[in-house]
Amino acid sequence: MSADTAATGIRTDATASNADYQWNEFDSEAYFQHYYGEPHPDDDLVIRHAVEALCRLVPSPGAGLDVVDVGTGPNLIPFFCALPKAARLTAWEYAASNVAWLKAELLKDELRPQWQHFWRVAREAYGPSERLADDPIPALRRKVCIEQGSIFDLPRHRWDAATMFFCAESITGRMDEFERACEAFAGAVKPGGALVAAFLVRSGGYEVAGRQFPVLALSAERIEAVFNGIADRVEARHIGIVEREIRSGYAGFVLLTGVARQS
Ligand SMILES: C[S@@+](CC[C@H](N)C(=O)[O-])C[C@H]1O[C@@H](n2cnc3c(N)ncnc32)[C@H](O)[C@@H]1O
Repeated sequence: MSADTAATGIRTDATASNADYQWNEFDSEAYFQHYYGEPHPDDDLVIRHAVEALCRLVPSPGAGLDVVDVGTGPNLIPFFCALPKAARLTAWEYAASNVAWLKAELLKDELRPQWQHFWRVAREAYGPSERLADDPIPALRRKVCIEQGSIFDLPRHRWDAATMFFCAESITGRMDEFERACEAFAGAVKPGGALVAAFLVRSGGYEVAGRQFPVLALSAERIEAVFNGIADRVEARHIGIVEREIRSGYAGFVLLTGVARQS
């Protein structure tokens, strides 16, 4: 047992697999405060790019899609991006703590200032013609369904579109698991459906409330190569990629979009 394991029960080495981490101990509020407590311009950019991709890949107006977000964590941003396009939004999240946090967050009457900010960015990205409500919570309560499950157990070809923010590379230190996670993500969508996914670039892992969690340190090119193997019409946007970390484990990311293959 390494010193890290003795102290926290969690492995911190780069080759640890998803099952080596205690995801149910993930401190959702600490994660929210660290990553989204102070909105960063890169978060606004991810929203704008994700909305642009959903509008490009699903040009029809109206809210008719069945959309899944994988590894949602304590984050409403994926919902904000897809809400105007979605008849139904599924959060497919593994950690019991995050599932409980998401449910409680959607029951709150007051939208946190951070969510007000990110919803404003999403509304602006969609433009005034969508006539989106000031408060997204009533629509989210109607449309969101939160399912506790692993990315590795996603059903195949169930959804019309899928989003994934910092999940496949942030749940394991193993390349084979990263590739399997990406395949499961793309395979969950019906052929031709839209895929939107953000990945950390060259991250060395992240810490939530004193616990280490894994990230596979990959270049943007390597991530893009994996995505090219599982999706069509892949496009990449590189955002904020810097040499030094801005937040724990964060030195920029790549946003990949594409469409699901027949497989
Ligand atoms: C870095 S966090 C990203 C959270 C959020 N999507 C965001 O953008 O901030 C990684 C997320 O993956 C979840 N996760 C861990 N293992 C998973 C698995 N096997 N299947 C699906 N999600 C998993 C974690 O609970 C956590 O919510």
